[in-house]
Parts: sequence; structure tokens; C-alpha cells
Amino acid sequence: MDVSARPDAATKSGARPIVILVVAAVFVAVLFDCLRIQTEMSRQRDEIARRAIDLGQALAASITPLLGTDASETLKEVVQAFGSREGLTGLAVYNEAGAPLAMTAGVAEFGEPLTRVADAIRTSKPLQEWTFGTRLVHSYTLPLVRQNMVAGVMVLFHDASDLEGWSLGFWELDAMRVLLEVMLVAGLALVVVRRSVDAPVKSTAEWIRRFRTGDVVDLVRLPTSRVFEPLVEEVMHLTKSVVAARKAAEEEARLRDLAEAIWTPERLKEHMRVRLQARSLVVVSNREPYIHVKKGRDIRCIVPPSGVVTATEPVLRACGGTWIAFGGGDADRETSDADGRLKVPPDDPRYTLRRVWLTAEEENGHYYGFSNEGLWPLCHIAHTRPSFEIEDWEQYQAVNAKFASATVEELEGVLNPYVLVHDYHFALVPQLIKAKRPDARVAIFWHIPWPNPEAFSICPWQKELLKGLLGADLVGFHIQFHCNNFLETVDRALESRIDRETFAINRMGHTTWVKPFPISVAFPTATSEPTLTGPVDTERLKAELFRRLRVRATHLGVGVDRLDYTKGLMERFRSLERFLDNYPSYRGKLTFVELGAPSRTRIQEYRDLASALEAEAERINRRFSDGDWRPLVLLQGQHTHDDIRPFYQAADFCLVTSLHDGMNLVAKEYVAARDDERGALILSCFTGAARELEQALIVNPYDLEQVSEAIHTALEMSPMESRTRMVGMRQQIKEANVYRWAGSVFSELCQIGANRATR
Ligand code: G6P
Repeated sequence: MDVSARPDAATKSGARPIVILVVAAVFVAVLFDCLRIQTEMSRQRDEIARRAIDLGQALAASITPLLGTDASETLKEVVQAFGSREGLTGLAVYNEAGAPLAMTAGVAEFGEPLTRVADAIRTSKPLQEWTFGTRLVHSYTLPLVRQNMVAGVMVLFHDASDLEGWSLGFWELDAMRVLLEVMLVAGLALVVVRRSVDAPVKSTAEWIRRFRTGDVVDLVRLPTSRVFEPLVEEVMHLTKSVVAARKAAEEEARLRDLAEAIWTPERLKEHMRVRLQARSLVVVSNREPYIHVKKGRDIRCIVPPSGVVTATEPVLRACGGTWIAFGGGDADRETSDADGRLKVPPDDPRYTLRRVWLTAEEENGHYYGFSNEGLWPLCHIAHTRPSFEIEDWEQYQAVNAKFASATVEELEGVLNPYVLVHDYHFALVPQLIKAKRPDARVAIFWHIPWPNPEAFSICPWQKELLKGLLGADLVGFHIQFHCNNFLETVDRALESRIDRETFAINRMGHTTWVKPFPISVAFPTATSEPTLTGPVDTERLKAELFRRLRVRATHLGVGVDRLDYTKGLMERFRSLERFLDNYPSYRGKLTFVELGAPSRTRIQEYRDLASALEAEAERINRRFSDGDWRPLVLLQGQHTHDDIRPFYQAADFCLVTSLHDGMNLVAKEYVAARDDERGALILSCFTGAARELEQALIVNPYDLEQVSEAIHTALEMSPMESRTRMVGMRQQIKEANVYRWAGSVFSELCQIGANRATR
């Protein structure tokens, strides 16, 4: 390519819109002029015709009595006298046989109107005609009637050639106006294009060039005008993808160099491609990864706070496939097609989301009732009583059947497909899928704890739930302890053969393997938000957050949770109070921010919890607040990743005080966000995460004194110790990331499939 020719080409293509504009302006001006001329000409012609008629009537009264008499001289005199009046250019009179009697001198020039005269005699009707020869002439042929007989004919001629002259003059004058107008339009267009198109395009190009060559992009501003919004958005997506791809490539290269076996999205993609071959992956969960909700006239897309979503989204982004979930947003229907399908993520589609619609009754019984008032408290030992209602159980069965048939629909035409079902909302789905598609390989991952057999036996339908789960080929939990509890529960409740060495349960000829797969987050990741402007300045970020919260403080603690009674939020607030009692020197210095997302608010316990927390935060703040300082900021609302990330990055410590938690991904997200390898994690010993993140400050959340001490340790910890701990935890999450989790689940499932095939 001739590079030197490019600016010229750009100039030419830049001038093209102006040329088009000029041509269009000329065309429009000429068009309007034509219309104007036509209208004016026809008005003037009408005027001539009207005048001819009026004059004809008046002359007829004088001429008719002279016809057929001897007064031919008088007739000629009259014709000569009137022939040049009232703008007439000729007048001729004929007898009843059409022979000329008298005419003015100019008539011969217009050509003898004999045929028109004959027609007027024959029809007794006046005729009008515009004759175009060399001249534009109007003729009005009027029969002269006496005693109901045509006694003669009179023809009035009007020379209208002035009209042609007028239109020519008009064109000449108007050409000047058009020329001036066009020059003005072209000049203005040139200025507008230069200022609103050329300059932003040049700055965008410069921005992209700097980004491509690794220069600091901050020095160039991207256009802010609305017109360029879509372009800027796309540029940002593109640059993020490029940064992510560069990071992934560097990471891959580094890992290859170190011969480390870290899982990356690329590795998972390849792993799945080899194992799945042409079969695509189907994932089922209750909570969808993208919820569309109405906000005034707009529609907003929300990513809900859910461990299932946090962990599954990066896997589907990497591998593609279909995610079946309940369409719970009030704008979900209008954002999906007739079958409830749409491509997501909305800004970078990688997989299909298939939404399943539920009635209010189904949602109440299945989600609020059986799942969250029954199974959720049943499985979490958090001292909230489970309640089991027969009506809820019926809806639970119906909704499980609905999701199973949606899954079977998605599997149509795929041989030996793979299905991953998520969580306690769908214990019956594995068995229902297997009944229709015995060739499907089905895994269910239970994201919450599995209690001991006594606790689980509270559920009146424990057997049905266990049978449903044992329809799966693989049942996964976060930790071995929950696998053990599950095996014990099956052993007590059902007739089956249990192999404790391989952790396999055989029931009615079908084998289910039970295994721990500690779930995790996407780290290191190609999809996490890359920073385009270099490392974060933690202190500046912290000051900025305090400024936004209108709090004067120096130390920041953070908690990120759904407002759920299992998260130990009341214990957390009271531990903070205890800390401020024990260490008064931190009053005026430490502010703890809780980013709490309201959750399951139709359930009384959740509503009560939210208002109790609000009251408790107020009480503690009343006790300690001083001037611009507050010890506690409770921000209730749905916070996006972008809202949460700066808090993770700036907080001196993150507090996770779950009373019982399958894994708790907030702990892992906090560690993953600390690229600066600073900060401290205080982690409840009742979380699955505590089994892996041994370098966290592990606490019993019920022990307020211990949590208060941990806060103190976190704040007083030497930078070296905090870095050593953080580096260790980051290494752990890097090795056991969500890609490894997905890779292990599917390797296991494929292995089961292979064993079955060779049996
Ligand atoms: C837990 C469950 C998930 C659930 C999430 C959020 O993490 O294991 O299945 O999605 O809580 O709860 P929600 O009821 O809002 O989906």
C-alpha cells in the first residue's frame, strides 16, 4: 500500500460529503425555483385568460348588432378601435360561415384561426387556446349569438411572450442567490465538519495510536459528544479486549516459561473443546447472569450478586453454550426473542441465555417458599428455622419439571450432551433430565453447605430430593466435609450401595459420584477489567472514597454481602463496636463500609434483618460519631462490580463473618482485586474459603472479642506480613481459580462418561 497517498485520499474522502451537500443544495434550490416559476406562470396565464373572457363579453355586445348588416365599415372601425385595447394584440371577426369580416393588422402573424372558428360555429361554445409557435399567444374564440343563432365569431389574441422573458430574468437573478446560498452552506458545512468530525476523529485515531504503541493515553481526550458515544464505547471495548488478550498472552508465555499449570480461559476453552467435541454445554440455574429491569423509560441490565453467577459467567464466556435460568426482570421478556433467548454478555456476546418464565405462584412456591424458606435455612446452620409447606413443595416439583423440559428442548439433536445444574433450587432436575435423556451426562453442583443427616431429615421430602439428586452422574460440593454429610444422609435415608473409597453411590443400577470442587473466581483473568492507566494509587483512591461518602477517616474496612442472615452481619457490626471500645485510639480514624445488597425481600426474616441492621448501624454511629467521622456506613443497594472494585482495592481489610457459607466468593474477590498485594482478609472459619485461604485472619464470627482482635491485627500488621499473607492467598486463588474448577468438574464428568462407555 502506498502510505504517502493516504492523507490525500483522506482529504478527498473528507471533501466528499461537502460536494454531496453542495450538489444537494443546488438541486433543492433549482427544484424550488422550478416550482415557483411554474406557479407564477400559471397565475399569469389565468389572468390573461380571465381578461380575454371579460373583454370578449364586453366586445360581443358592441359587435354582434353589426353582423349581417351593411355596416361592414363600422365593424372594421370598431375592430380597429378595440383591437389594441386592454392589452389585446389582435382582434378578428368572422361571419356565420367562417369568412373573415374584419381583423387587426397583427392577426396574420398568429396564423389564421379558421379551424377554431369553424369549431366555435359548430358547437356554439367559446374556445381558449395557447398557441406556441415562435411566440406564446393566447386566443379566445367566442361565438356571437343573435336570436339564438350563431351570427358570427370573434377571436381575441393576447401576446404572452413577456411571460417567457419574465422566467428567463427570474432564472438569471436567482442563479446569483443560489450561488451565494450554496457558498454559505458549503462554508458552514466545512467549519462544522472540521470542528465536530475531523477533530474528534483525529483525537480518537491519536488515542488508538498511543494505545497501540504503548504510550500514555491519558494525554489525549476521546470525544465527549453524544454523536461519538457508540464509537467511543466500541473503542473502549476493543481496547479492553486487547489489554485482556495481551495480559492473557503474557500470562500464558510466563506460565509456559515457569512450566506452571495455571488454568486460564484459553486453557479451559481448549480443554472443553477437546472433551465436548461438537457438543455444546448446557448450564441450568435459578438466578440469571443478566437481569433486564425498567428504570423510567430506560431498560437497565443488572448483574445480580450471586456466587453462582460470579463463578459460572467466566466459564461460559470462555466456552460458549447455553445458560437456562429464570427470567425474573420486569424487562426480561422484551429483551429476549419469542423463545426467551438472547445472546450475552450484552456488550460482547459469547453464549446464549435462555430465560424460563414462571408465574407469580410458581415463583412464590418454588423460589421464596421451598428453596429459600425451606432448603436454605435447612442447609445453613445459622439458627433460622426452615419451614416446609406442601403447597411450596408442589410448586418446587412443577418448576423443576419446567426447567427439566426446557433443558431437554435445548439438548435436542445433540448426542451424549453435558449438563451442569446449579444449586438447591433444582434438586429434582437431574433425575427428570435423565428420564428423558439417559445419554446425557449430568452434574449438579450444590453451592451451599450440606448439613448432617439429622438436620437434613427435618425435610419431609428428603427422600424425593435425594432421589432427584442421585439422577445425576456427578454431585459436587465445595468441600469434602459436605460430601461426607451427603453420603451419610443418603446412607440413612435411601436403599443404596455406597462405596466410601471412591465416593460413589449406586442406586437402582445408576452410579453417582460425589466429589468436592472448591469453586473460585476468575483470576488471573482475561475478562476482568484491565486498567488502562497503570497501577491504582491505593491512598488516593481511599481518600476519594471517603470524600464521596463525606466521611473524614484514615483507615477503611469493607464488607460486601447480600443482606442475608447467614452472613453474620449483626455480629460484624457488634465486633466493630467492640473494637472501638477496646481500641479507642481508632475512633475518628477507622470507617467500615458495608455494601449490602437487599435480597429475597419478600421473606419476612430478610426484611427484618435489613431494618435491624439499619437500626444497629445507627445506634453504633450515634454512640461514636464525631464531627465528620462515622464508624459505620451501611450502603444498601444493588452495587455493580464497578462500584465494589474501588472499595476492594482501597480497603485496609475486608471482613467476611458468615455464620455458615458453602464457599464465600467475596473473600476470593477481595484477594483477587489486590494487585498491590496489600490489605488483610478477616475470614469466618465457617466458610468453605477458610479451608483454602489459610493466610487470612481466621475468626469465629460469634466470638466478638476475637473478631475485634483480628481487626486490630489487620490494622497494625506490618507491610511485610500483610504482603506475605496476600501473596500466599493470591497464589492459592491463581492456582485454584474458577477455570480449574470448571475444568475439574468437566474432566470428572467426561471420565464418568468414558467409564460408562467402556463398561
Ligand atoms: C447463593 C446461592 C445462589 C444464589 C445466590 C444469590 O450464593 O448459592 O444460588 O443465586 O445465593 O441469591 P438469590 O436468591 O438472589 O439468587
